[in-house]
Amino acid sequence: MKSQPAVLPVESRTPGEPVGDRGDFLPFAVPDIGEEEVSAVVRVLRSGWITTGPEVQAFEREFAEAMGVRHAVALNSCTAALHLALEAHGVRPGDEVLTSTLTFTATAEVVEYLGARTRFVDVEPRYLNLDPALVRRLIEQDYVLRDGIRRHRVSGGRLRAIVPVHFGGHPCDMTQLQAIAEEFGLAVIDDAAHALPAAIGGRVVGGMGCTTAFSFYATKTLTTAEGGMLTTDDAEIAARVRLMALHGISRDAWKRYAADGSWYYEVVEAGYKYNLTDIAAALGRVQLRRQGELRVRRAAIAERYSAAFAASGAAEPPAVAGGAEHAWHLYPIRLPLDRLTIDRARFIQELRDRLIGTSVHFIPLHRQPFYQQRYGYQSAEFPVAEQVYPRLVSLPIYSKMSDADVERVIAAVEEVGHRFRR
Ligand SMILES: Cc1ncc(COP(=O)(O)O)c(C=O)c1O
Repeated sequence: MKSQPAVLPVESRTPGEPVGDRGDFLPFAVPDIGEEEVSAVVRVLRSGWITTGPEVQAFEREFAEAMGVRHAVALNSCTAALHLALEAHGVRPGDEVLTSTLTFTATAEVVEYLGARTRFVDVEPRYLNLDPALVRRLIEQDYVLRDGIRRHRVSGGRLRAIVPVHFGGHPCDMTQLQAIAEEFGLAVIDDAAHALPAAIGGRVVGGMGCTTAFSFYATKTLTTAEGGMLTTDDAEIAARVRLMALHGISRDAWKRYAADGSWYYEVVEAGYKYNLTDIAAALGRVQLRRQGELRVRRAAIAERYSAAFAASGAAEPPAVAGGAEHAWHLYPIRLPLDRLTIDRARFIQELRDRLIGTSVHFIPLHRQPFYQQRYGYQSAEFPVAEQVYPRLVSLPIYSKMSDADVERVIAAVEEVGHRFRR
């Protein structure tokens, strides 16, 4: 059987569908691409240089400036950014990496690419981010100090890195996680696939002194269709990532083929092919300039949803920490299942019958067959994720939604809640 194209692994979006007018299907996510983006892409198509070149350089410069970080490296996905970040931070076969169980498989699969082992940790109950208290407890209980490095009591694997995920766009408690990492000599690579733009305590995600990976996938808050960015203040990390992103050759293609370039290059590593195109970068540069405007619209939608659900009790809105600037990539509600006669699957179907697309973020990774078979996780190790997972439903939240679309979603959630009240 031919499988579905793997372009939309988690989002129940129908590409090309219009945002719903009254009575039409309202997709879960739709990119906000304006005429300016179209013109930028056409300009690059006509320029004679379509792959990695001056647009990518400009995109990297502008992105670094926006994050207040020294280096930004454009890549063809967040998965590539996570992979190369771990590689550059020295994750090697037999090493171990801690991350949240409530994430997309990309966060963890890159650990496996490197022959290292993924250790999932439960989330804290409020924002569903990696729980710093559990991270500390796990390190203290499961890893013993030997020869100045942390080795797992049973596997003997050396603990190398922590990968926090800013779930839905709500920043993690990076102050605590960075303090733990410093204490135990670990790298922090934060998965900011959802967190653009986001900040906490005045610190911007992507400019917090760790290595950060962003996603520009079709449904993300900044999209280049497919794409990603790695940010870091560390020149050595940036240089290693650049090298490994383009075959491990000592000069990139743009420099080789430009008029003043040299034909000579050296292969110094068996690298990867993870570069971003100038077509994508041109789109990304316009989207980057619009980030403030797009976020304001998503925040207004979140505010309207939260006010409505708090008043009606139809769903538990996502919490926001004081001092946090939420990117609002996702709006995950928690269903009051104890007051409903239906489960989450039926709730989603009822919304679909009312022409509203939704999604679920995420099926915890410790439940997935690959990780189950490889590591034999027990549900009891993840009480928060296990408790919250059956209740999570992500509602549409994107700048192209009209006020009427937002009200339609609220009315549908409340109507289904009312109709199936226990
Ligand atoms: C938390 C998280 N990390 C990483 C990724 C991978 O991003 P990309 O598709 O750009 O590789 C995703 C994609 O949805 C994600 O949700």
